Amino acid sequence: MSKTLLITGGAGFIGSHVVRLFVNKYPDYKIINLDKLTYAGNLENLTDIEDKDNYRFIKGDIVNSSFVENLFQIENIDAVIHLAAESHVDRSISNPIEFVQTNVIGTANLLNSARKSWKDYSEKCFYHVSTDEVYGALGETGLFTEETSYDPHSPYSASKASSDHFVRAYNDTYGLPIVISNCSNNYGPNQFPEKLLPLFFNNIINNKALPVYGNGSNTRDWLYVVDHAKAIDVVFHKGKDGETYNIGGHNEWKNLDLIKMMCALMDEKLNRTIGTSESLITFVTDRSGHDFRYAIDASKIEKDLGWKPSLQFKEGLSITLDWYMANQNWLDNITSGDYKTYYQQQYSKR
Ligand code: NAD
Ligand code: DAU
Repeated sequence: MSKTLLITGGAGFIGSHVVRLFVNKYPDYKIINLDKLTYAGNLENLTDIEDKDNYRFIKGDIVNSSFVENLFQIENIDAVIHLAAESHVDRSISNPIEFVQTNVIGTANLLNSARKSWKDYSEKCFYHVSTDEVYGALGETGLFTEETSYDPHSPYSASKASSDHFVRAYNDTYGLPIVISNCSNNYGPNQFPEKLLPLFFNNIINNKALPVYGNGSNTRDWLYVVDHAKAIDVVFHKGKDGETYNIGGHNEWKNLDLIKMMCALMDEKLNRTIGTSESLITFVTDRSGHDFRYAIDASKIEKDLGWKPSLQFKEGLSITLDWYMANQNWLDNITSGDYKTYYQQQYSKR
């Protein structure tokens, strides 16, 4: 059925993969990508679909309530997939208020505009894309389920937890149709090189130190970004009103083990002597409040909606590294200018 779908944050890492999937798979949908184009938003991520008839980009800020309200009035929006956010934990430690603005106020503005403009809630959906970091940190064992209590530690995860609560509050209070998913760490093409994998790729290519926080024993559950986009498609179309779905890769890695595997793959791809990249590893001061371990129990989305990850990690990692090697212009464009200042601020005193 034809509908107007607003995707926020569609020029970012995950958002661009979601926009591509929906534009290509649903030619009947009118898809609007609303993005502020912060340092993390990049229209180069979407050149292959920018001319499609069912796609339109609008530059705008979700923190601007009158702008968001107008957009809902003018565009007759039927559904929202909300990905726009400040997304990097280290930046949230240096600049927490920006995270409150975008992640909390921005989400509340979207919810409120949907509430006001949607006269009738049938066939409407507000889908909020969130993170497993809202659940806090695990020890050596256990998994996050949809019932795990919220226990965020960083300003980033606190802002995402707050936005999740607002989304549920609009469902409980006004009956706004909503669905939420909480996903583990994504990796893949187009990720901004502040996150572990693309940052380490860039440093390996440039023979720069690889800054491992603490002793490298922190653990993350990695999922290929296209598998996340496919899960978002399934949750959007089959998820039940008011429900939460955890999304994860069944793919836990201690940071140091993952980094060593990546170094070995890079030596192979660059025809370097084995051990060259690994010799760049440098242990640096830990991230403050660093969550020890994240791991997702994804059985609900698997059983109820029939989704599961498609790609084996080593294959996904290799595809990802090949993409970065083939797209070094993409990386060069975003690592000049402001990125240098960011890198200096984050890493020079560690
Ligand atoms: P990203 O930082 O790569 O992209 C965020 C996008 O949001 C950018 O295009 C940016 O320009 C846009 N944006 C930021 N502030 C905005 C504003 N005020 N108004 C409009 N647009 C704005 O983020 P990502 O890694 O692609 O994450 C997308 C979403 O998925 C976020 O909500 C994040 O919390 C969530 N998430 C991310 C991961 C992950 O591993 N990256 C995992 C689980 C959930
Ligand atoms: O779990 C989902 C979350 O995953 C998302 O909600 C966030 O948006 C996303 O940024 C990601 O958060 P992390 O903090 O886990 O990702 P990051 O890539 O920053 O770090 C991954 C791990 O690597 C973490 O334990 C910190 C460590 N690390 C990271 C960087 C950037 C390092 O050791 N050195 C580094 O330079």
